[in-house]
Amino acid sequence: MEKNYEKAYALTKKYGQEHLLSFYDELNDDVKAALLEQILNIDFELSCELYKNAGQASDISEGGKVEPIGYKDKALLGEDVLKVYAEKGNALMSDGRFAAVTMAGGQGTRLGHNGPKGTYDIGLPSHESLFAIQCRRLKTQSEKCGKTIPWYIMTSRENDAATKAFFEEHDYFGYDRDYIKFFVQSMLPMIDFDGKIVLESKGKIKEGADGHGGLFSAMIKNGIYDDMKAKGIKWIFVGGIDNVLLKLCDPAFLGFVDESGCGIGAKSLVKRDAREKVGVFCLMDGKPYVIEYTEVSDEMAEARDENGEFLYGDAHILCNMFNISAFEKMTGDFGGLPYHTAIKKTNFVNGDGEIVVPDKPNAYKFEAFIFDAFKYFDSMAILRVERSEEFAPVKNKDGEDSPATARELFMNAVDK
Ligand code: UTP
Repeated sequence: MEKNYEKAYALTKKYGQEHLLSFYDELNDDVKAALLEQILNIDFELSCELYKNAGQASDISEGGKVEPIGYKDKALLGEDVLKVYAEKGNALMSDGRFAAVTMAGGQGTRLGHNGPKGTYDIGLPSHESLFAIQCRRLKTQSEKCGKTIPWYIMTSRENDAATKAFFEEHDYFGYDRDYIKFFVQSMLPMIDFDGKIVLESKGKIKEGADGHGGLFSAMIKNGIYDDMKAKGIKWIFVGGIDNVLLKLCDPAFLGFVDESGCGIGAKSLVKRDAREKVGVFCLMDGKPYVIEYTEVSDEMAEARDENGEFLYGDAHILCNMFNISAFEKMTGDFGGLPYHTAIKKTNFVNGDGEIVVPDKPNAYKFEAFIFDAFKYFDSMAILRVERSEEFAPVKNKDGEDSPATARELFMNAVDK
């Protein structure tokens, strides 16, 4: 431990973060060891860079040429075409060429549930948790295609143990547990407005999951990508845990993307009104891209084509398909996905060792977004789907996008 302390001390000194060890002598041995491990695992160079750039406008879209992107509207494809896609998708699933990934590493701060979001019960008559709903869909489809679909679940260091315990407690919802694999995404420390890494208690640094864009590096680091390759998987569905109507193993969508010849695909839905707070698909300098609503000008938000449809009306709903080769590309030498900065409120330990509960945001949190990966591909197969059948998000405790609204949407959907 002595050696680790010296290394950790040198690092904190080099980067002006000595406060992290201010209370070290007061800690018991286990907490000391855990704190040193946290410090030794921090990429201080990256953290300094992120702090330096925090609060500055994202430069991703700066100066780029924005154009509408092509899509196919599922409602206009026709039963026959959809049937062909579904057959193709089913065949791929039967051959074991498909896997589903659920990203469940988020903190779920807005929902305020004490536990991983996937364990939440939105109050359906069945009282299924969000994990149970996704598992039921996988089970049904696995039975249909005669092959158990491998399911990979991304967690964070904060919720990994609780997630696994929940699956154990529910006997993996009757799924073959050999086909479920959990993997943990990376964390980044939160940094206060003076550039100091936040200590949440005397012996613990406040870290946050590195965003859903952390998926690619987490899959590589945890051997998930190798596991998929070894299994001969060709297509990987990637979705979140908090859309109760997410169809994570939709054969027609799989067939649609496979037939398109594109390395990536996504489902979209038409934004409700010009200023709905959703990211929208477009082409940026000719490449697929999602512009966040905060970056969309009024003119762009309102723009319509000759049929009166929004030119930039297809919302990204975290419902994506990646070819396995796309993952290979995302681990290459392109330099990693950019980090975005969020301003959050977080408890911290002050210089006197007291825990302070701030009444306003006081720190930066850094996250990568999965859709920043799209621009590394030449084209993308976008399938516009029906909102009422595919989108019921659970984000907030009350009001919009809450368990109550998701429950109602779920109950009204035909395909549950
Ligand atoms: P959000 O960012 O919308 O929500 O994640 P959240 O993190 O669950 O909740 P808030 O923002 O703290 O209230 C959308 C999806 O991406 C996953 C989430 O678990 C959710 O399924 N996600 C998000 C990750 O897996 N890791 C992350 O670091 C962030």
